[in-house]
Amino acid sequence: MSDAGNGVVLSARDVSVSYGTHLALQPSSIDFAAGSVTALIGPSGCGKSTFLRCLNLMNREIRGCTIEGRVIYHGQDVNTPDVDSYALRRQVGMVFQQPNPFPKSIYENVAFAPRRHGMASRSELDALVERSLRAAALWDETKDKLFASAMALSGGQQQRLCIARALALDPDVVIMDEPCSALDPIATFSIEDTISDMASRGICVIIVTHNMEQAARVSDRCAFFLLGELVEQGPTNELFSTPKDNRLEDYLTGRFG
Ligand SMILES: Nc1ncnc2c1ncn2[C@@H]1O[C@H](COP(=O)(O)OP(=O)(O)OP(=O)(O)O)[C@@H](O)[C@H]1O
Ligand SMILES: [Mg+2]
Repeated sequence: MSDAGNGVVLSARDVSVSYGTHLALQPSSIDFAAGSVTALIGPSGCGKSTFLRCLNLMNREIRGCTIEGRVIYHGQDVNTPDVDSYALRRQVGMVFQQPNPFPKSIYENVAFAPRRHGMASRSELDALVERSLRAAALWDETKDKLFASAMALSGGQQQRLCIARALALDPDVVIMDEPCSALDPIATFSIEDTISDMASRGICVIIVTHNMEQAARVSDRCAFFLLGELVEQGPTNELFSTPKDNRLEDYLTGRFG
C-alpha cells in the first residue's frame, strides 16, 4: 500500500488482538493521516488501549498477547517479527495516562534518547531541548531551571515534558492514551493546544479520551469502540451530529458508558 497523495501515515488492516484465548479486539481497519488528530472513544474496557498499543507494537511486551492483521506504517507492514519495535517507537511516540518522566533533570529527560541515538554535540542537544520544550509549551516555565529534577514539576508540566521527550525524536505519529485524565482543566487545555500545534506541524496524533468535549475540541476524526469492536469512524462533527449506529448514539447521549 502506498501513502503517496492521501497523506496516510499509518493504517490498521484487520487488526485483532487476543490476550490468551480472549479476543479483546475484533478485526479493525482504519487510516490515520499526517497533520490530523483522531480520537478513539468508547466505554471502559472496549479495547481502546488495546488497539492503540498495536500501533507502536507495545502489545508485544505483554505476555500471551497476539496481534493479527497488518499495521502499515508508510506502506510497510510493521506487525512482522523482523521489525524492530524500538526503532518504530522513535517514529511512533507514545504519551501515557500518568506522566512518567525519568527521575532526572528536565534537560536530561529530553536529551537522553537523542544522545543515545548519536547526537553528541552539546550545542545541537541544547537547541533540540529548547525546540522540543517550546513545541510542548513548556519552555517559558522551565528555561531557568533546566537542570532541576523533572520530578519537581507539576503533573501537567510533567505531561508536557513527556510530550517534549517524544517530540525530541522527531516522530511523525504520536499516540496518547488518556493524556489528560490525571490533569486539571487548565493543564488539560494546555495539552490540547499542544496537540493542535503538533497536528499543524504535520504530526499524526491519535488520542484515547473518555471526554467527549475533548474529542470534539481536538479531533478531526473519531473512532468509536464498543465491546472490542470498532463500531463507527468518520469526521468528528459527523459522528457527533449524525451517528449512524444506534450504539454510538446511545453512548453519546449518555445511555451507557
Ligand atoms: N494486559 C492484559 N491482559 C489481559 N487482558 C487485558 C490486558 N489489557 C486489557 N485486557 C482486556 O482487554 C479488554 C480491553 O481492555 P482495554 O484496556 O483495551 O480497554 P480500554 O477501552 O482501554 O478501557 P479503559 O477506558 O478502561 O482504559 C478488556 O476486557 C481487558 O480486560
Ligand atoms: Mg485504556
